[in-house]
Order: sequence, then C-alpha cells, then structure tokens
Amino acid sequence: MSTDPAAITDVQVDGVPAGPAPAGVFVSFEGGDGVGKSTQVALLGHHLASLGREVVVTREPGGTPLGLELRRAILHGEDLDPRTEALLYAADRAHHVASLVRPALARGAVVLTDRYLDSSVAYQGTGRGLGADEVERLSLWAVQGLLPHVTVLLDLDPAVGLGRLTGDPDRLESAGDDFHRRTRQAFLARAAADPGRWLVLDASQPAEDVAAQVRARLAPLLVAAGAAASVGGAA
Ligand code: TMP
Repeated sequence: MSTDPAAITDVQVDGVPAGPAPAGVFVSFEGGDGVGKSTQVALLGHHLASLGREVVVTREPGGTPLGLELRRAILHGEDLDPRTEALLYAADRAHHVASLVRPALARGAVVLTDRYLDSSVAYQGTGRGLGADEVERLSLWAVQGLLPHVTVLLDLDPAVGLGRLTGDPDRLESAGDDFHRRTRQAFLARAAADPGRWLVLDASQPAEDVAAQVRARLAPLLVAAGAAASVGGAA
C-alpha cells in the first residue's frame, strides 16, 4: 500500500462499508515476545513528542479499560480454545480502534501501537493453525479495514527473545518453541508480501540503532502528514 497519508483509504471488507480515511499517521510494531517493541515504541514516542507532534502510545491487547480486562482474561485466565482466543483479540481490537485509534487519527495524531492485527494473523492464524486468511478477514472486519501506514517488524530468534523475559510466562509465552518459530516465519512472510507497509529490522542490534532506522523510515511520511520538517530522519 502507499505510504502517502493523503492516499490512504480503508479497504472494503466483504461489502462492509469501510471506516473513514484517517488524517493522522498510524504505525504498528510487531514481532515475537521479548524483541523490544515496547522500548522502540517509547523511544519513538518521546522523539515525536519532542518535535511537537501529538503522539498516542497504545498497545494490543489492553489499550483501553475494557481491553485491560480482556488482556487479563486472554493471557492469565482459564484455558481458551483457539477460536475463542482469536475472537477475544478481535474484540479488544475492535473496541480499541473504534474508541481510541480512529478518534486520535481523526485529530491528526500519530498513533503508535505495540501490536495490531498482524499479531493475530501470525499468532492465531499460523501459530494456532486457524488459517492466516480467515484470521485476517476477521481482523479486518473488526476494524473496518483500518491498516497502519507503516508496520515495523522487530525480527529476532525466538530463543533469544523469550530468554530476555522475566517473570512467570503467560499463556502465549508458554506456547512452545515450534509455535514461536512458526509465528516468526509468519511475520516474515507477511512482511515480504507487502514491503510498502512493512519495515523489517534486526532486533539483535542496539536499541538506539533500531530506533534511528525507524525514524529514518517514518520521516518522509510524517513530513507529508504535516509534521515539522525538522523530523529529519535519524537524529
Ligand atoms: P505483549 O506481551 O506483546 O503485550 O502481547 C501479549 C501476547 O499476546 C503476546 O504473546 C502476543 C499475543 N498476541 C496474540 O497472540 N494475538 C494478538 O492479536 C495480539 C495483539 C497479541
């Protein structure tokens, strides 16, 4: 898809009217557990805020009060079958987009989300074996077709990422090595199929180096969307 914000429109999903095209800039961060997404979201958020942009930093699951309840249920509640799990992620996302993401984009904000629908396609579609196409359709229906302008994939060997985690593993972190290897390959395949939207970065690099590459990729998009010309890419 185009990265010119003026050219972005939502896709039509199986005849369901799409939501309004956003005025702001929507960026998602994806990847396995422990790859450093939260660090990168925070670094980019501080950088953009220092340039005077309105920045909304959020995450899935759990970007809203309802989402926090769903997050606890999905990650720490009773065992769920894969379809229930997929639907709960989709419900979290539908509410997140309708109540927080779309209003922020309509104001012209930059929205940075730690995970979005590509996580469902990779984790539930491929990891859980529900089928990437079906889970993508479900996810697009939930958000009326809203896709990020840019999706940053932080790619890392899952053994390294999971090894960085501290605390008791949640249901997804405990899903096993094969699950996490399949999920990583699903992210990489999805990114390769749509290089216009995705930026794939080696997450074993120092965090500041990764952050500089993210800023460089976003600079033209932010300028086009009305950001200060001083964004200038890698700082
Ligand atoms: P987090 O720890 O990165 O916040 O994500 C919570 C877990 O939920 C993580 O293991 C990935 C997983 N997840 C899915 O399986 N599907 C989804 O749609 C999302 C958003 C996250």
